[in-house]
This record gives sequence, C-alpha cells and structure tokens, in this order.
Amino acid sequence: MTYSRITGTGSFLPEKVLTNHDLEKMVETSDQWIRERTGIKKRHIAAEGETTCDLAEAAARHALDAAGLKPADIDLVIVATTTADKIFPSTACLLQKRLGIHGPPAFDVQAVCSGFIYAMDVADKFIRSGSAKKALVVGAETLSRITNWKDRGTCVLFGDGAGAIVLEASAEPGILSSHLHADGAYDEMLHVPTGVSIDYDSVREGRAYMEMQGNDVFRFAVRTLGKIVDETLAANHMTKGDIDWLVPHQANIRIIAATAKKLNMPMERVVVTVDEHGNTSAASVPLALDVAVRDGRIKRGDTLLLEAFGGGFTWGSVLLKY
Ligand code: UT7
Repeated sequence: MTYSRITGTGSFLPEKVLTNHDLEKMVETSDQWIRERTGIKKRHIAAEGETTCDLAEAAARHALDAAGLKPADIDLVIVATTTADKIFPSTACLLQKRLGIHGPPAFDVQAVCSGFIYAMDVADKFIRSGSAKKALVVGAETLSRITNWKDRGTCVLFGDGAGAIVLEASAEPGILSSHLHADGAYDEMLHVPTGVSIDYDSVREGRAYMEMQGNDVFRFAVRTLGKIVDETLAANHMTKGDIDWLVPHQANIRIIAATAKKLNMPMERVVVTVDEHGNTSAASVPLALDVAVRDGRIKRGDTLLLEAFGGGFTWGSVLLKY
C-alpha cells in the first residue's frame, strides 16, 4: 500500500506587521474587542509589489530544504490560493517557473480557507494512484489585497502568509484519510461579490473586497467542524484520545476552542497561531503545521487532525501520521 507522507514543511510571513493598535487608528475598533472576539493580536501584511507567489516561493524553498530535496525532484505542484498573482497562468505555474521545475503538472486549487486541505487531498490521490511521487503543496495568500480597510467587520481578521509541505510516496503512513465537503448554497455569506466575469472594472479598479456575515459564518463553522471531527474519527475507527495534535484553520480562537472541546482536547494539544498571524485563509493550516514542527511540538509518529472551514462554504479534514 502506498501512502503519502509529509517529509518537509516550510512557511513564510511578510515582514510588515499590523497590530490591533494600528487598526484602532484605521477603523472604529479596539485591541480589546479584537482579542476577546477573535484571539488575534497582530497579522502580517505583504509589502507593495510583494505577491502571493513571492510568499509561496519562500515557503516552498523552506519545505524543500526540510525534505532534503531539490526542485527538480518534484513531480507535482499544487498551490491553494484565493489571491492568485495573475488571472492566469495559475500561481502554481508561476511558482514552477521560479523554482525551475519543468514538465510536471502544476495547478491552483480554489477552496478559499479550506484550499490547503483540498490541495492535500488531491496530492494524496495523485500519490496513492502512482501518478506522482513527490508533491509540493502550498497554501499562500495576500488577502490584504481583497480586504476593505474601511470595514471593521472583516479588516481586523485577515493577514498574509504562506505555508508549504512536501508529500512523498511511502510504505509508511502517511495521510490516513481526508474528507472534503462543500455547499454552494451559502456563497453570499462569505464572498467577494464581484469578479472578472461579473464586473471586470471592479477588479481593475480595486473594488473587489471580501464581505462576510460574520456571526452566521461563525455558527455554521462551529457546527460543521464539530461534525467533521466525528466523521474523521469514525472513518478511521479512532476515538478522541487517539489524536495527538489538532492543527485547525486559524479563523477565530473561539471556533478553534469549540472544536478542541468537541475532541475533549486540552488547548495545549492544539496548534494556535491565530494570535500572531490572523486568518491567512489557505495558508493558515500549513503555517500552523510548520510552526509546531519547527518548534519541536509535533514529532514523527504523532497523529494529527487538520481541519478547515471557509467561503463556498467549503470544509474538510485530513487525518495523518506525521
Ligand atoms: O475563515 C473563514 C471563515 N471565517 C470565519 O470563521 C469567521 C467567523 N466569524 C467570526 O469569527 C466572528 O463572527 C467575528 C469575529 C467576525 C465577529 O464576532 P461576533 O462575536 O460574531 O460579533 P458580531 O458580528 O455579532 O458583532 C458584535 C458587535 C456588533 O455591535 P452591536 O450590533 O452589538 O452593537 C458589531 O457591530 O461587535 C461589533 N463589531 C465590532 N466592534 C469593534 C463588529 N466588528 C467589530 C470590530 N470592532 N472590529
């Protein structure tokens, strides 16, 4: 049996930091409100001219180094992003060019905050079927570009960043299962209400911003992530105590805490970066994973539950042996 196993992780954050106190000067908000309602203290923001592919490249190079591989060893490139550099080609193709990878398939996955979970599942299926042996899977975003900096309901939440993993074919597990879902009926609860085909001028003129019915999204996310925990454990005949680490999407500390509670998991076993990074959408899970791998919390053989929820709605989980 062939599994796909993580052999390297990497991440990258832009240098510029935007604190809650900075935001107090931009919209009617307070450090206290943001911390209490979201857990966020600060977020990183890409510099002018710094793109999603720049962040993706830095994270990818760290992951390749950690795996002890060269770019030429990679035979599949997937980038999960909602904020592609160009309308086309895909950011994955741009990343390929930067890394000097020629020939293997490269494509983007668009599932907003669940994008990395979707991308991992796709890469896993390529590897299990024998179509790829060494996949580079990246989640990278410059959400600051589609943030309305006058809307306090969204601008305090999001940040920029990238995370990456190398997945390799292995006889050892590996990804044990992944579970993807979507329900497009809820598209208007969390979306950018315009785009290339609806109103290209709005894109060109920088009027394409995220909009969210935060409270409704919050309640749906808590309910849905609770269900996916049950689905994932049942599919693997596991119990709550079998999970060593929860690596959740970093949208809101209260959503993370609710999922941890569902797993009877103390917060010490949950990787939390939302305080430092804000919500980086498709980048948030691989960023959190890399942080906990590099600081030594996550060790080889640990059982990890990765999960995410985002626009679409989309949601999903990956259960793996690290
Ligand atoms: O990653 C994709 C998925 N996204 C998410 O999972 C995000 C889900 N939603 C959330 O995390 C939360 O709903 C928010 C953090 C966005 C909002 O927290 P909430 O506890 O749901 O607050 P709320 O929307 O119910 O608003 C409570 C109050 C309102 O004032 P009134 O009507 O009670 O007077 C808002 O106008 O807080 C007000 N408010 C703010 N106050 C200060 C909303 N945003 C802010 C703000 N600063 N930035």
